[in-house]
Amino acid sequence: MEATGSDGQQDFLPEGLLRAPKVLVVDDDPNVCKLLEYHLKRAGCDVSIANSGEAALESLNDGHPIDVVLLDFRLPGITGLETLRRINHRNKPASVIVMTAHGTTEEAVACLKEGAYDYVRKTNGLDNLRMAMRNALETVGLKEEVEQLRAKLVEKDRHFPDIVSRSPAMTQVKKLVRMVSSRDITILLEGESGSGKELIARAIHTHGDYRDKPFVAINCAAIPEALLESELFGHERGAFTGAISRRIGKFEEAQGGTLLLDEVGELNPSLQAKLLRVLQTKEIQPVGGQTRKVNVRIISATNRDLGDSVRKGLFRHDLYYRLAVFPILLPSLRERKEDILELAQFFLRRFAGHEESPVTGLTREVEQALLDYDWPGNVRELENIIYRAVVLSESELLQLRDFPVLAISAATTPPPAPPTLSAASPSPPEVPVRARVVSLEQLEAQAIRQALESTAGNVSLAAELLHISRATLYRKSKKFQIPLR
Ligand SMILES: Nc1ncnc2c1ncn2[C@@H]1O[C@H](COP(=O)(O)OP(=O)(O)OP(=O)(O)O)[C@@H](O)[C@H]1O
Ligand SMILES: [Mg+2]
Repeated sequence: MEATGSDGQQDFLPEGLLRAPKVLVVDDDPNVCKLLEYHLKRAGCDVSIANSGEAALESLNDGHPIDVVLLDFRLPGITGLETLRRINHRNKPASVIVMTAHGTTEEAVACLKEGAYDYVRKTNGLDNLRMAMRNALETVGLKEEVEQLRAKLVEKDRHFPDIVSRSPAMTQVKKLVRMVSSRDITILLEGESGSGKELIARAIHTHGDYRDKPFVAINCAAIPEALLESELFGHERGAFTGAISRRIGKFEEAQGGTLLLDEVGELNPSLQAKLLRVLQTKEIQPVGGQTRKVNVRIISATNRDLGDSVRKGLFRHDLYYRLAVFPILLPSLRERKEDILELAQFFLRRFAGHEESPVTGLTREVEQALLDYDWPGNVRELENIIYRAVVLSESELLQLRDFPVLAISAATTPPPAPPTLSAASPSPPEVPVRARVVSLEQLEAQAIRQALESTAGNVSLAAELLHISRATLYRKSKKFQIPLR
């Protein structure tokens, strides 16, 4: 193959391709390989060589992703055409440009039929090949862009459900979220369990300038103490028994983005001291390694009263002040009853959609019971009981019997009060709807069993349905002795 045409080596790399394209050259002639390797490398490609179809397939099966294959038509062993066929049967086929010495029209047609991206004659010099490469790489770039966009959409859908609220208290929280979302400021989210701390942390991340950077969350309570330091800061190879390779910690994973330290109140004194040092120096020290600079915005979350832990000497006061530069207190659900029905409708629509159930709403009686309930488990509890009710219900409107936790002894339940027609008419005396308290844990265990049942034991799907992490699902299943596959 002759090196004809312009020597503008970059000219076949399309704009917008942000990484070096990976090209596999397959030819039994070492001179052709060398020549192509030289030109492709100069143009910025990452090149590998195979001298036969077998070697090419082996190298593709190695798991190294290849963008474009330059494939000689006449090869010893399995033919170029057969190699092409096998490449295209792979899960993620590369774009294949077939090169041939002389080439007949039949050959060209056969190649294109087998899914070749293009077909070039070696005798035409490098120019044709450049053009074919450029087109192929443009397609690669476009495919990647589409994949990234799709991944972002899925990610958004999965992780950033809307913050549903209508209460003034949550309007204030959302205002704070907007205020801090683009700032490198250390934020402490305080609120009862299930009140939405993680949701708010993610909202802070996605609503501001950090949205394209990583968001990494670590639950300090869910990880055994002995592993937590290496989870946070990483470790070097051989730092301790079992550390067979170097590992990057959550701080480095979140580099440039946001790190959520969930349940930060659970950190032991030694890790509290280490975290304080990170906040002071902006450096981490992997276990068994050298210190490294990190640039991470930290959001911590706690469902304890951290101030109280400080007073009791359980949490360092200097660390507390560093973490609580910007505290945001999430009100419990019982403090914002205006949100209850809004959230109930939101979860109902979501689960009814997932489960293809006939449910479209709630009876007035249920609405009243939801408003009267105390919600010790906050929004998560509401989410779980709506899920359970939607799964169990066979009617369009959820009935009180679908909510054991709210179940009311029939004898004490008056029919729902009719709506008052005018402001002047006296409102009927309010009869309190009393909830029969069923243990929250029982309910939780039941929800987990149902989720596992409806996903045929698939832990990831079940965790997704329950809107908890897999780790939490494992922890809770163990606690409630629910066997997992
Ligand atoms: N305002 C809201 N709108 C919609 N969903 C919400 C809202 N608040 C909470 N949720 C949902 O409720 C569940 C619990 O929220 P989240 O995990 O953020 O709470 P948490 O305070 O971090 O709880 P824990 O202290 O137990 O970790 C999640 O599934 C979350 O998506
Ligand atoms: Mg949480």
